[in-house]
Amino acid sequence: MKKTLKGQSILEAQQFSREILDDLFSEADKMQGVCKFLDGGDVPEEAMHECGDIKAGMAEKKIALLFYEPSTRTWSSFYVAAENLGARVMAIPPARQFSSVVKGETVKDTIAMFCGYGIDAIVMRSDKEGMAKEADEAAHSNGRQVSIINAGDGKGQHPTQALLDLYTIKRFFENELRKDIHKEKISIAYVGDLANGRTVRSLAYLLNKYQDSEKLEFFFVSPSVLKMRDDIKEYLEKKGVKFSEHEKLIDVANKADVCYMTRVQKERLEGIQVDYDFIRSNCSITKEVVKKLKKEAIVMHPLPRDPTFGEIPEWFDSDPRAKYIQQAENGLYVRMALLKKVLLG
Ligand code: CP
Repeated sequence: MKKTLKGQSILEAQQFSREILDDLFSEADKMQGVCKFLDGGDVPEEAMHECGDIKAGMAEKKIALLFYEPSTRTWSSFYVAAENLGARVMAIPPARQFSSVVKGETVKDTIAMFCGYGIDAIVMRSDKEGMAKEADEAAHSNGRQVSIINAGDGKGQHPTQALLDLYTIKRFFENELRKDIHKEKISIAYVGDLANGRTVRSLAYLLNKYQDSEKLEFFFVSPSVLKMRDDIKEYLEKKGVKFSEHEKLIDVANKADVCYMTRVQKERLEGIQVDYDFIRSNCSITKEVVKKLKKEAIVMHPLPRDPTFGEIPEWFDSDPRAKYIQQAENGLYVRMALLKKVLLG
């Protein structure tokens, strides 16, 4: 296990240790102060100096955004994060439409080009599981120190989403419940398309890196055709994390501290027939589920949500347990912290 993120690629949630995560999250707290300062807010002198030092260090850093799939949050939060830190950003237009990927160029060749242009980090979203690792191997074979940051690889993982998800859970425990997260038992219901959702996979791994196994309980809630894949279940069994599988959220709604909702990944179903009426009634936030949810639970979602499927209806947005907008905002602080740690240490 590496002791620092400096110069590392960020490929999967399993690569983090509790020590690295605590350090990263404390940096993300500071980044919130930096953002406030950049927005013209009144901040302590220390935060102003911190901001100046970071910008001086980052001025020579070049960060490329290479996205093979659509994105709102991940793309824009990394873009703003890099700009806030004072780095130079090279935003490649959607790769599958406007780059030479259209002409059949391989990831290996694409990454070789970026290495030659003196890029320090490539934030990469891909449509194929394992593509971020392929890019990392290509960067290494060019002998250049380029960090690949996996911004979601097909059905594989989305480690930076898991970082902001865990940061959101930690802040809720510490700031709202006034509890030390490491001393608490956490029950989390992962709901929806668990077969194709990369965010749930990364969060399951990451929580196990951050919390002792006996303090975790996972409820996997999905219709049978969208169940959590075996690799995660085998990993959790090996680590001694208690988990169970369910088809209806109502059955576990009163037990979960965190309800992590997801949309059906229509773009990845590959011929699988999904009963949307079943999902709408059983794997969504309904009035009946809301009545059973703990008063001190939180509802999260990586977003985008799908209005036609309605896993979180808009009427729930004003409920104090709805944390998904704050969750997305936390992505900016966590991604600023991550870029700083990877590029400056
Ligand atoms: N959560 C997430 O990855 O959102 P985007 O697809 O909009 O980046």
